Amino acid sequence: MSNDTNVTWHESSVSRQMREKRNGHKGCVIWFTGLSGSGKSTVANTLDHKLYHAGYHSVVLDGDNVRHGLNAGPGMLKATHGEEFSNRFGLGFSAIDREENIRRIGAVADIFARTGIIALTAFISPYRIDRDKVRNTLNPGEFIEVFVDAPLEVCEQRDPKGLYKKARAGEIKGFTGIDDPYEEPLAPELVLQSATKTPDILADEIISFLTDKGIIHA
Ligand SMILES: Nc1ncnc2c1ncn2[C@@H]1O[C@H](COP(=O)(O)OP(=O)(O)OP(=O)(O)O)[C@@H](O)[C@H]1O
Ligand SMILES: [Mg+2]
Repeated sequence: MSNDTNVTWHESSVSRQMREKRNGHKGCVIWFTGLSGSGKSTVANTLDHKLYHAGYHSVVLDGDNVRHGLNAGPGMLKATHGEEFSNRFGLGFSAIDREENIRRIGAVADIFARTGIIALTAFISPYRIDRDKVRNTLNPGEFIEVFVDAPLEVCEQRDPKGLYKKARAGEIKGFTGIDDPYEEPLAPELVLQSATKTPDILADEIISFLTDKGIIHA
């Protein structure tokens, strides 16, 4: 018998409803997706700030930070049980590594949502199928896909980390939008026009959506 069959789901004695009642709002996942430089981290953090000051419970899971910890890259992980560890479990940027990156983030965001927290995730998450898989693990209405829409030229112009420059110079391979695909959402809950509107206005657009859906109360 494999170990898997001996692992059972353990129900928490504190229900989600109890947590949401005490928090005064519902838990959900706000999944930002878009090109590097489109403004995912900026809008997520602006929204987090607004939610915090309005008394709501939220958390930001951000691409760069998660790739330093939970999903650290090959070579960044040190294990005591064998040298192959880092290559087996460290995540890079190939399609399969991006898939696993998103799966793990989705699983963590799901835990937050079940705990009555508004989880904001800021990852390029370029593949539609990977985002849809996360959507399908959540209850209807709990996965709010937010497409941060800015033209590639605008993102490349911003280039705060100098990554587009490196990708154009061939120093980074498989960079989304340059030599790796980005699949726009087909039916996102929200589209943010981040080339023409300020992060403050965009965060307010999400707050209006959350209020309309009864996730938070005005
Ligand atoms: N709505 C906006 N209007 C103008 N500038 C913006 C806007 N949103 C973000 N920016 C600027 O664009 C740059 C990139 O933003 P940000 O780091 O949030 O992008 P990102 O989508 O998180 O990128 P990455 O995927 O590389 O983490 C930053 O310099 C930020 O100040
Ligand atoms: Mg970011």
